Amino acid sequence: MPQPCTVVIFGASGDLTYRKLIPALYNIAADGDLPAALSVVGFARREKTDEGFRQELREAVGKFSRQGLNAELWESFEDRIFYHRSEFSDLEGYQRLAERLEELDQDRNTQGNRLFYLSVAPSEFGGILEKLAAVGLNKAKEGSWARVIVEKPFGTDLPSAESLNQVVNDVFREKDTYRIDHYLGKETAQNIMVLRFANSIFEPLWNHRYIDHIQITAAEPLGVEARGPYYESSGALRDMVQNHLLQLLCLVAMEPPTDLTADSVRDEKVKVVRALRAMTPEDVAHDVVRGQYAAGSINGKEVLAYRAEDRVDPQSMTETYVALKVHVDNWRWADVPFYVRVGKRLPKGGTEIAIQFKNAPGVLFNKDTSAVGPNVLVIRIQPDEGISLRIQAKRPGASLRVEPVKMDFHYGTSFGKASPEAYERLLLDAMSGDATLFARRDEVEGAWKFIDLIEQAWHQNPKPPALCPYPAGSWGPPEADALLERDGRAWRRM
Ligand code: BG6
Repeated sequence: MPQPCTVVIFGASGDLTYRKLIPALYNIAADGDLPAALSVVGFARREKTDEGFRQELREAVGKFSRQGLNAELWESFEDRIFYHRSEFSDLEGYQRLAERLEELDQDRNTQGNRLFYLSVAPSEFGGILEKLAAVGLNKAKEGSWARVIVEKPFGTDLPSAESLNQVVNDVFREKDTYRIDHYLGKETAQNIMVLRFANSIFEPLWNHRYIDHIQITAAEPLGVEARGPYYESSGALRDMVQNHLLQLLCLVAMEPPTDLTADSVRDEKVKVVRALRAMTPEDVAHDVVRGQYAAGSINGKEVLAYRAEDRVDPQSMTETYVALKVHVDNWRWADVPFYVRVGKRLPKGGTEIAIQFKNAPGVLFNKDTSAVGPNVLVIRIQPDEGISLRIQAKRPGASLRVEPVKMDFHYGTSFGKASPEAYERLLLDAMSGDATLFARRDEVEGAWKFIDLIEQAWHQNPKPPALCPYPAGSWGPPEADALLERDGRAWRRM
């Protein structure tokens, strides 16, 4: 059970509060895991009363909570929620906040523990943190704590990430800084370590001797929705690969940590980040494909091209799809390619990691080894969370025909209950002081170092590699298929 505290959300009138943060806190309360002494203060610029804010959140919980809305529970829950109106730049607003938090500590017994959630654009971080420090809110009283949660994007390249980190760490210690990567809060992502290190049958095979290659895919049927301006300045590589997909790659590739403390786990992940093979512009041209969706159809519905989306440059060169071949240069992964792809407006939504093992020798069942397919272990992050293993079996009958079959584990059926949302787990962990599932400064900076080389090859190169169009509703540009075909491999059909 986490300790009593007050959660202060900066940017409380933004989408994240309504769609994720408050529904997550509500679901934690519904599961009986929220400390009785917990208050939430929404800090934002719009004029609103506590009552009005609660009413809006009630509707949001009805819409977005995985457990729906229970009127009785909501009544006791909403009593903890308050609204604090202020400009982010107004020091006086922070002084009033400090007083209000003191009062809440007295009235609600929140014990001086504070969790500040920065759900604002990174350009606002500096100003907010500086003012928190000016009124002393970054320092907790003896026996209490003050922590900060920072939302992505955490920088747009290495220099900007370093300076953001500096801004945050000037005010909060690294051990009190929680950088959210919501993929780490997903149940199946957490299960990767359990699968690997709580079973004895996988780990002996988990290396270059037995694994042919690994594929990591995050596919989304959605387009950029209303986020044109953000996405224009980001693109798929920065939006998804730098953070979510490299985090998944680290969990798959890392060595076993000595224990499960936050630093032991993150030490191992950062070693993987450091082992990522740096790409030259030639490597980028050869091993990275960037695509952009053209008009097409998803589930029978016509959809616009990326360039025709709201507030997107009609000549935009921003990528909505990336496929790349990555190498982790260490003993375990020598010569094992990791193929990573991510895209918007693909036919189906789903995130998965597929570990493809080397083929069995073909001497017995087929002289042509390729006819007997490889074993593939698939970790489905979402939807339909689970793990499946493809093995070869004999088809019943007089003749000896070998065919692939699947051994399947589904969270839903095995555990009989829905997995909590990523934000539930992450908020609980931050309230409990467990930073294992949050990105550490060196991980984030190391990931930018790798990504920057690709961005530079694309944008600072007199002859940048082409931006390949793909129709919305297809599995990406043909160049992405060619990336694997030339290695004698193919993307898995999802
Ligand atoms: C976000 C990206 O971090 O992750 C979005 O900014 C993306 O572009 C989203 O759609 C995907 O998250 P999920 O949990 O829906 O897979």
